[in-house]
Amino acid sequence: MKVLVVGSGGRESAICWQFSKEASIEKVYCAPGNDGIVEIAEIVNISAYDFENLTNFVKANKIDFTFVGPEIPLSLGIVDYFNSCGLKIIGPSKEAAKLESSKIYSKYFMDKYNIPTAKYSSFSDVGRALDFIDSLNKDNKIVIKADGLAAGKGVHICSCKKEAKNIVHKIMSEKVLDDAGTNILIEEYIEGEELSYLLFTDGTSYSLMPASQDHKRVKDKDQGLNTGGMGAYAPAPLTTDNLNEKVENIVKKVSNGITQEKLEYKGILYVGIIVREGLPYVLEFNCRFGDPETQAVLPLLETDLSDICIAILEGKLSQLQIKWKNKFSVCVVLASGGYPEDFKTGFEIKGLENIATDAIIFYAGIKFVDGKFITSGGRVLGITAIGDNIKEAINKVYANVNLVHFDGMHFRKDIARRALNGKY
Ligand code: GLY
Repeated sequence: MKVLVVGSGGRESAICWQFSKEASIEKVYCAPGNDGIVEIAEIVNISAYDFENLTNFVKANKIDFTFVGPEIPLSLGIVDYFNSCGLKIIGPSKEAAKLESSKIYSKYFMDKYNIPTAKYSSFSDVGRALDFIDSLNKDNKIVIKADGLAAGKGVHICSCKKEAKNIVHKIMSEKVLDDAGTNILIEEYIEGEELSYLLFTDGTSYSLMPASQDHKRVKDKDQGLNTGGMGAYAPAPLTTDNLNEKVENIVKKVSNGITQEKLEYKGILYVGIIVREGLPYVLEFNCRFGDPETQAVLPLLETDLSDICIAILEGKLSQLQIKWKNKFSVCVVLASGGYPEDFKTGFEIKGLENIATDAIIFYAGIKFVDGKFITSGGRVLGITAIGDNIKEAINKVYANVNLVHFDGMHFRKDIARRALNGKY
């Protein structure tokens, strides 16, 4: 089979890597891809938003199915477009992708299907939003969320009313997030441990992947600004049978809601969970693989991803037993100096040739120029290692991270440490 992966980051690099190892996959294409993955996939110079040219390419090259990595093409209806051309594609329809692309819709869905989540109110009027903030208890943190997709910049946790009002002005009056901030949510803050539960679904049945944990803050001990994710590990040993059972209950309700709402959903659903006093609450839905979680989770997959995709496309996921390695995986992201704020690019990446063969490099913000790899983005690459236990995976991954260097490079030194002792 031939497969096209849409997207260009570390997540798509991991998806291409997985497909490239599978016996039934003859060729992997990636659009637009990045220069780091040329050995595992043919790079296709078509934007992830150019649906017409993507479908023409798929038809011309007789590609069996397409796998969509990022949320924006999904929210713009890439799945509907491919389906209207009679082409097979993994991902939710535009309507179903609203679970991620509209925070207000996702809350409506959670309320309707009795899914535990933080209390909230939604606003389209600045004055009402400010009055509401005035009515809140001054001792509690306040969460402000833009309704639309905002490339990781849509969620603000404010420690006082003044800060919250400032954010509301920026989002709604100054429009710093454009139309993504036309409507907002003001939400109760839940203090707790965050976990990422990803699942495969064919729209009627689902299969959970091992729970993983992202590290969103830029600095060790969860300090500093929020990022797209500085590393991840799986399975997250913080999960207990009791918690998993409660999350499974939530996932059943979500799956039932998808069926009841007649949402066309053949793909990956990411349920972002926060655990407070042993009880899980849904923080958010994402309608695709997480990044960097995918870079930690996919190396644990034993069943072929292509078999899973075919089962999803045929609506036969319940007939497939998906197997996972009984191992632990840790991914550390190497970022450009300054990221997640302004950063410079164009620095040579040295030492990649020294990485051990049993560690995996997932490329993201990288270019190949004049025979050298140079940085071209904020998150440059991820390195993943697997071990029989989390400690072994941590030691292995950092032994490899320390072999790579570029000017300004920074990374968190405590990825997965929490799994060892429950804290950083
Ligand atoms: N790791 C968070 C996300 O993919 O949205």
